[in-house]
Amino acid sequence: MTLVLGIESSCDETAAAVVRDGKLVLSSIVASQADLHAPFRGVVPEIACRSHLEVIIPTIETALRDANVSANELDAIAVTKKPGLIGALLVGLTAAKAIAWYYKKPIIGVDHLAAHLYAATMETEPARHPAIALVASGGHTALYQFISASEFELIGSTNDDAAGEAFDKVAALLGLPYPGGPSIEKAAEGVDVKPFIRANEHFQKPRVSSSPLDFSFSGLKTAVRYKIMPPHGERRILDLTETAKLAAMFQHAAVEHLISSTEAAIEKYSAKSVLAGGGVACNKLLRARLAEICNKRNLLLHLPRPALCSDNAAMIAGLGTALYNSGNIDSLELTATASGGAS
Ligand code: KG4
Ligand code: ZN
Repeated sequence: MTLVLGIESSCDETAAAVVRDGKLVLSSIVASQADLHAPFRGVVPEIACRSHLEVIIPTIETALRDANVSANELDAIAVTKKPGLIGALLVGLTAAKAIAWYYKKPIIGVDHLAAHLYAATMETEPARHPAIALVASGGHTALYQFISASEFELIGSTNDDAAGEAFDKVAALLGLPYPGGPSIEKAAEGVDVKPFIRANEHFQKPRVSSSPLDFSFSGLKTAVRYKIMPPHGERRILDLTETAKLAAMFQHAAVEHLISSTEAAIEKYSAKSVLAGGGVACNKLLRARLAEICNKRNLLLHLPRPALCSDNAAMIAGLGTALYNSGNIDSLELTATASGGAS
């Protein structure tokens, strides 16, 4: 039995979790800072770092208590080392080092994006190969060929905004609260986009010239902006019905864009399994469309429950366990880096 404590602090969630054998989540605590960043409609790095500092120790203590595990019983401490806000990453890394040093436990630095990929098969059967993986979060949107938990190849990426970033920016344009993904999903609830598609009023799915496996969200964001602020006209005040309509049309176009690049990757790699992860994979429309395209082709879909899609420390502990079992252990010299990740 392997017990690993995972610590995650790369952006605006302070998280700690205890996982047994890389699969069984004994506890998973996520202290979200969304309320602190909401007035600014985006993550403010300075606020994020301060908040991580305030809650990191109680979050870790709660994770250990909920799992009914003492620090002495742990086999290793896994911590996010990249990518993310450097000050935020350092808070988690320093806490992990202190625990590792005091309790004389091995420390394992984990790549946040690789952990999102790991989460996809954490609670499902193993992937069938060839497998492709879609990661759509606030900072990244990319497609990978998934070889194993620690081996994957980047096969498509975004030329501009990440999908989650586009949801956040469009929500701000529509006057909807941060984080934008859940508020756009909520505003769009119950809106049928078919009549708008028939009337050709909908947003076109973005076209990307670099590769059918790449993404681009900035044109779609501009299209929404022009509906609200026409280039040579006055800013329109939207009523609730118009806001809901724009939210639904944006969500539809963004999801169809993610789906069409995923389908192109399925065809190109003759995939037998499709993995998905990242905060945007919480979106119900995206989940339903992924299920549809996989059912149609008889493919295995590895779609984590929403709590394992958005930022969490169970995925860090999970991948940390796989790395620990294959001897990938770091020293206390481990450092954090803002960039990089799963490529
Ligand atoms: O993976 P994540 O929790 O953090 C990063 O690593 O970035 O992803 C957060 C992103 C945010 O941009 C948020 O708006 C988006 O995921 N998101 C969603 C939904 N829930 C979260 N986007 C669309 N629909 C959702 N239901
Ligand atoms: Zn993430």
